[in-house]
Amino acid sequence: MPANSPRFGVWALVHGSRAALQDPAEPYDASWARNKALVLEAERLGYDSVLVAQHTINPHDPQLDQLEAWTASAALAALTDRIEIIAAIKPYLYHPVVLAKMAQQIEHISGGRFAINLVNAWNRPELERAGIGFAEHDARYAYGREWITVVDSLLRGQTTRFHGEHFQIDDYALRPADPFRARPRIYVGGESEPARQLVADKGDVWFVNGQPIEDVEKLLADVGSRARPAGQPPLRFGLSAFVIARETDGEADAHLAHLFALAAQDKPLRERQKVNIDPNAVMFQTFAQSPRVGSNGGTAAGLVGSYDTVARRIAAFHRVGIELFMLQFQPFEADMRAFAEHVIPRVRKLLAE
Ligand SMILES: Cc1cc2nc3c(=O)[nH]c(=O)nc-3n(C[C@H](O)[C@H](O)[C@H](O)COP(=O)(O)O)c2cc1C
Repeated sequence: MPANSPRFGVWALVHGSRAALQDPAEPYDASWARNKALVLEAERLGYDSVLVAQHTINPHDPQLDQLEAWTASAALAALTDRIEIIAAIKPYLYHPVVLAKMAQQIEHISGGRFAINLVNAWNRPELERAGIGFAEHDARYAYGREWITVVDSLLRGQTTRFHGEHFQIDDYALRPADPFRARPRIYVGGESEPARQLVADKGDVWFVNGQPIEDVEKLLADVGSRARPAGQPPLRFGLSAFVIARETDGEADAHLAHLFALAAQDKPLRERQKVNIDPNAVMFQTFAQSPRVGSNGGTAAGLVGSYDTVARRIAAFHRVGIELFMLQFQPFEADMRAFAEHVIPRVRKLLAE
């Protein structure tokens, strides 16, 4: 069992509900007001972390509202006291010097609670329509590798000199440096081979998409056994998952069936949007293997059932190495409350036994 006790986080609703966009019980709302209230409540309920995904345009329907990750994360940092704030970032959208400066500022605002989640992009129009272009999958990772090397060095307060294929940096140093720790934490999301090597070399925590525990165990065995740079602590692991926890397994299954029915209404939209997905993104190949609701693996992690069932499965994931559980719900606020009340204490009890 990992030495760290489990941590629980929530995905901010940056592009509305996670399982189905058209839900009478949860009208579409990706507003700042809703996200602010949600994160403040999550903190009050004892959640440890929030993940603010980054999309400049809504990836499901460009006409729908989309919350901006970095400005929202800065505001959340000022409003909260304890919760970790993780903002996602796609390297092509920001020069590393600018992004490192922004990250360092949010680290200061939050008092040492900020983290970035480095992701590789999949929604072609976000970059193509901006004229940035959408490089091929592995070329994006090569770009991201240079980019994070520069960001890491700047976040550490080092006077940075870097000459690569994409960036030419000369004697750049950001001040003030981080007074709280060596630098903000670096998460990496992505399943492909270049993603795995990138997190082993440059990351602190690897985010795995929701999938069955046997598959997660194999992924962790692979990436966890890779060499780390000298002086870096062992890699830690997070899991994305959509939770449906109810009094009984039957009630949870019924709600899952309800969400599948609602999600079916989004099918035409999803079909239209498919052309925007990078076919080489390994994540989507994994998702195609089984039906699920929720993004980033969603219910494929199997966290659907009674409070006891879900707690047992989370404890099992923790025992194979998952430290941070990054969760989605629908209806979000009500289920987030129920999870905090009924599941988290059960997990803690199981792990103490
Ligand atoms: C936990 C997690 C969070 C992610 N967040 C975002 C995000 O905020 N924005 C985004 O465009 N992609 C996000 N992605 C998707 C990545 O950009 C990328 O397309 C995906 O991980 C596929 O990479 P792969 O081929 O290495 O699997 C996320 C992926 C994971 C695992």
